Amino acid sequence: MFKKLVLLSSIVAPALGQSLKLANNYTGSTFFDRWTFQNGIDANTTGNVLFQTQSQATSLGLIGTNAAGNVIIKVDNTTSGAGNPTFGRPSVKILSNDSVPMGSLVIMDAVHMPFGCSVWPAFWMQGPNWPNDGEIDIVENVNLVTTNRYTLHSLNGCMHPPAGSSLVQETGQVISTDCFNQTNGDEGCIVQDPSTNSYGKGFASVGGGVFAMLWNDEGIRTWFFQRGSIPADVPTSNPNPAGWPTPTAFWPTATCNTSQFFSPQTIIFDITICGNFAGAPQVFSETCSGNCLDLVQDPTNYDDAYFEIKYVAVFTNSSEASSSTTSGSSSTSTGSGSSPSGSGSGSSSAALGFKSYLTLTPSSIGVLSMAVAIVLPALAVFSGAL
Ligand SMILES: *[C@@H]1O[C@H](CO)[C@@H](O)[C@H](O)[C@H]1NC(C)=O
Ligand SMILES: *[C@@H]1O[C@H](CO)[C@@H](O)[C@H](O)[C@H]1NC(C)=O
Ligand SMILES: *[C@@H]1O[C@H](CO)[C@@H](O)[C@H](O)[C@H]1NC(C)=O
Ligand SMILES: *[C@@H]1O[C@H](CO)[C@@H](O)[C@H](O)[C@H]1NC(C)=O
Ligand SMILES: *[C@@H]1O[C@H](CO)[C@@H](O)[C@H](O)[C@H]1NC(C)=O
Ligand SMILES: *[C@@H]1O[C@H](CO)[C@@H](O)[C@H](O)[C@H]1NC(C)=O
Ligand SMILES: *[C@@H]1O[C@H](CO)[C@@H](O)[C@H](O)[C@H]1NC(C)=O
Repeated sequence: MFKKLVLLSSIVAPALGQSLKLANNYTGSTFFDRWTFQNGIDANTTGNVLFQTQSQATSLGLIGTNAAGNVIIKVDNTTSGAGNPTFGRPSVKILSNDSVPMGSLVIMDAVHMPFGCSVWPAFWMQGPNWPNDGEIDIVENVNLVTTNRYTLHSLNGCMHPPAGSSLVQETGQVISTDCFNQTNGDEGCIVQDPSTNSYGKGFASVGGGVFAMLWNDEGIRTWFFQRGSIPADVPTSNPNPAGWPTPTAFWPTATCNTSQFFSPQTIIFDITICGNFAGAPQVFSETCSGNCLDLVQDPTNYDDAYFEIKYVAVFTNSSEASSSTTSGSSSTSTGSGSSPSGSGSGSSSAALGFKSYLTLTPSSIGVLSMAVAIVLPALAVFSGAL
C-alpha cells in the first residue's frame, strides 16, 4: 500500500507541477470589474430571489468591500417582504467574463460564506451550453449544513470511481458516482468534505479558508484548507498543487474524460433562497424546521447570508485563457429565451433536482475581454498571451 502510494506520487507530481501562470486575481475594489451581473428572477432553480444589476446591487449595499478590504456579496437583509407572497428577496448572481480552460487552477479564499435556513449559495463553474459543456460545483450546500459538497454535472459517461476502488484518491466521502444530469434528478457525482469547518457556520467559526480546483490531463481535483492550514504557496504567484496534501475530491480521467465532457468554464457566484434544493422539504428539514417559504419575507433571517472574499485567483498553463470562449461561438444554449435573466422557464427537475443552469457565455465577451486585458495591464492580468 505504502509502496503503491509512493510510486503513484512520483508519477503524478511532474504533471501536477505543470507551469501555471496567473491569469486573473479578483480582489479588493477591482473585484467586480470582470464579471457580468445576471439580473431578474431565479428561473433556473426557482429560488425566491430577484437578482440585481450591478448598479442596483451597489446602491442596495449588496456588493462592495468592507473595512478589511475584503469583497462582500450578500442577500438583502433590510427589506421586509411582509404581505407579499411572491416576494423575491434582492440577491446577486455574477458570471466571470473570462473563462477557465483545462489546464487551470482556481483558488478562492473567503472568511465567510452565506448560510442560514433557506439560504443556498454556490461558487461554481459551467460551460456555455449546459449540460453538454459540464458543470463543476466547488462550494455548494444549503441551510445550516456545515460540510461542503463538491459535484460535477455532465452528459452521460462521466463517473466518479465507486467507493472502495483504488482510483479513489481523496479525503472526502463519496455520496454519488454518476455525473450524468439525467441520473437521480441531476444530483451529479458528489463528494462530501469530511470537515465540519468547510461550510456555513463551521467555516465562519474558523475564519474561513481556501478552496482550490485543479483541472488538468489527470482529471479534476478540489481541496479545502481551513485558515491556519493553508499551504504557504497558495497565495503566491507560484502555487504548486503537487506539494499539497491528498485532495478532498478527485475525479480521475480514467472514469471521466474531462476534455470530452467539460469545455472552458465560466465562474459563477450566486446566492439564492429556497428553490429546488434548499427548499425541498426533505432537505430543509434536515437542518431547519418549519417551511422554507415562511422565512423569505423576514429580512432578519439573512444577516449571515453573505460571502466575504479575500480573492479569487485563476492560474492557467494555457495562453488561451481569456479568448477560449470564442470556441463556443455558436452555442445555442438549451433554450435561452424569455425571462429577464436571459433564461427560459426552468422546468427543472424531478424530486431533488438540485440546480439547473443558466447558459450564458456570449462568445463576444471573451473576445472583448481579451482585448481589454491587453490594454489594461493595471488589472493584473498576466495571461500567458501577454
Ligand atoms: C464584462 O462583461 C460585461 C458584459 O457582459 C461588460 O459590461 C463589462 O465591461 C466586462 N468587463 C470587462 C472588464 O471587460
Ligand atoms: C496544459 O494542461 C493541459 C491539461 O492538463 C494539457 O493537456 C496541456 O498539455 C498543458 N499545456 C502545456 C503547454 O503545458
Ligand atoms: C491575489 O490577491 C490577494 C489579496 O490581495 C493576495 O493576497 C494574493 O497574494 C494575490 N495572489 C497573487 C497570485 O498575486
Ligand atoms: C477524450 O476526449 C477527447 C476529446 O473529445 C478525445 O479526443 C479523446 O480521444 C478521448 N480520450 C479517450 C481515452 O477516450
Ligand atoms: C445585515 O447583515 C449584516 C451582516 O451581513 C449586519 O452587519 C447588519 O447589521 C444587518 N442589517 C440589519 C438591518 O440587521
Ligand atoms: C436554466 O436556464 C436555461 C435557460 O433557460 C434553460 O435553458 C435551462 O433549461 C434552465 N435550466 C433549467 C434546466 O431549468
Ligand atoms: C439534462 O439535460 C437534458 C439536455 O441534454 C435536458 O433535456 C434534461 O432536462 C436535463 N435533465 C435534468 C434533470 O435537468
